[in-house]
Amino acid sequence: MIATIHHFAESRQAAHRLADLLGINCQAVNVRRFPDGESLVRVEDTQRTAILYRSLDHPNEKLVELMLAASALRDRGASRIVLVAPYLGYMRQDIAFQPGEAVSQKVIGTLLAAHFDMLVTVDPHLHRTASLAAVAPGIDAVAVSAAETLVELLRPEITSAVMLIGPDAESRPWVETVAAPLGLQVLVGEKRRLGDRHVQLEIAGIERVQGRTVVLIDDLISSGGTLVRCAELLHAAGATRIEAVATHCLASPHDLAKLAAAGVARVRSTDTVAGPTASVAIAPALAAALVRWAPTAAQ
Ligand code: R5P
Repeated sequence: MIATIHHFAESRQAAHRLADLLGINCQAVNVRRFPDGESLVRVEDTQRTAILYRSLDHPNEKLVELMLAASALRDRGASRIVLVAPYLGYMRQDIAFQPGEAVSQKVIGTLLAAHFDMLVTVDPHLHRTASLAAVAPGIDAVAVSAAETLVELLRPEITSAVMLIGPDAESRPWVETVAAPLGLQVLVGEKRRLGDRHVQLEIAGIERVQGRTVVLIDDLISSGGTLVRCAELLHAAGATRIEAVATHCLASPHDLAKLAAAGVARVRSTDTVAGPTASVAIAPALAAALVRWAPTAAQ
């Protein structure tokens, strides 16, 4: 064993799944909150390669502790620190949409590159940026695809009558990659965002969903606003059952209730973010990537 996985409390189960697949040790990062809100972070013994596992949803709360843990691991003797952040927040603000806005993708990517030697994530939201390497300059950066994981989630229950729906152009790569091995038909909508939770959608050919089960596919469910509008349109067009499957689901219980009210019978995601929709482990895909790209960490 020449690597150790160190995980924060909320990632315990997912990190252990990965460690079991890799046959390596898994330790908790201990965090204590002081009365004033600051964090004391303590890590256990490590190997020269340390894998720090933390998904970066709610990144404002998590990033400082992540930096403290990386520093503590170096002090413990780690010479190579791999960040496994199955969900990587702050990737959507990749340009200044209005004068004066911070480009958070660049800021957070540069920050992570300064503290880690390698970054592994899943389906990062990079629509205008060429690659993850451009986000985290100077370190190894690996973007793992969840497509195969989603295919295996859907395969046992899907029939050729099911239609997959991508809500917008950005979802097209996911929906087409998932549809191909299952031999399913696809419709992809066009979206215009009106606000944080409101979008305008059109789906050419939507009349084809009449009397069919449809599964919405997206990389990310955030507020759920996109899929709520999509479900409303599909329901009105006569779809008999509507489900949703995504790589990452950040939706709150309130957001999930709105999806249910819009007629989405079931929402499922990978476990990149822990929560009620997490239905399939991303660990096999992460393990395969680590074996391929960081073999010394996985031997
Ligand atoms: C957009 O590019 C993404 O693929 C998702 O459709 C979007 O982030 C979902 O956001 P929300 O759930 O808040 O509508």
